[in-house]
Amino acid sequence: MFLYKTPQKDNYNMLLLGAVQISGHSFFVYKDSDGSISIKSSREEKLQKATVKKMIKLNPSVLKILDRYKIKPCIDTKTLIELSDGHMNDTCRVAIGIYSMLSSNLRALISENTLKEASMLHDLGKVLIPSKVLNKPTKLNKKERAIMNMHSMIGYELLKTQDISKETLELVKYHHQNLKHSGYPTIKSSEHIHDLGVQIISTADKYSALREARVYRRRLSKIESLLILYKEVLEGKIHKDIYKALFEYAKKYDKAA
Ligand SMILES: [Fe+2]
Ligand SMILES: [Fe+2]
Repeated sequence: MFLYKTPQKDNYNMLLLGAVQISGHSFFVYKDSDGSISIKSSREEKLQKATVKKMIKLNPSVLKILDRYKIKPCIDTKTLIELSDGHMNDTCRVAIGIYSMLSSNLRALISENTLKEASMLHDLGKVLIPSKVLNKPTKLNKKERAIMNMHSMIGYELLKTQDISKETLELVKYHHQNLKHSGYPTIKSSEHIHDLGVQIISTADKYSALREARVYRRRLSKIESLLILYKEVLEGKIHKDIYKALFEYAKKYDKAA
């Protein structure tokens, strides 16, 4: 049985269990040392900062990833709050929309909860990406692109220190992979990834990103976004059944222009 309680002031020594979306807002689920569960708004900046700090302490390999480009760890919680209530929330909505349009045979291959959790956490690694790269208004150069692409691995390494399921961790790590595995990070020959889950998350991620404004471009319309992703079907990046499910979801539920 879950016992919900408000953590004592300054009790930041909790373990992250996952993330949930409630009434369109994002919340993180924590477990306290006494086993009790708390659900905290993603807007709790101090708690988020302390949690990420603890994650880094528990897994110093995060620092090694950053050190490849001589980046000093700087926790950008403002970005994480924006992403949690914005892009990651949107991605969750679209991922569940795609999932709901799939056949029951396909739906049986992955749990809805895993998809929700992974989409609500997928870009957590951006909390350590320097904001001059993250918010650059012009095209990223090769080095900046490489720094930006580290976010999925950073997110995975951070979350690995918490009580997050293996399935969710894998989706966070590979949310920029595509159907032919030409995305990033590279999949080792010993790894077997859950292609369906990765396809749902990565397609939902792309669609929600296109539907949001970025510092370097305007928000794209539903038709423009679907056309761009249809090109990815032709390029073998998105499975046609996942695209079909996205199309049905967008037609029915994405009412914005
Ligand atoms: Fe991402
Ligand atoms: Fe994303």
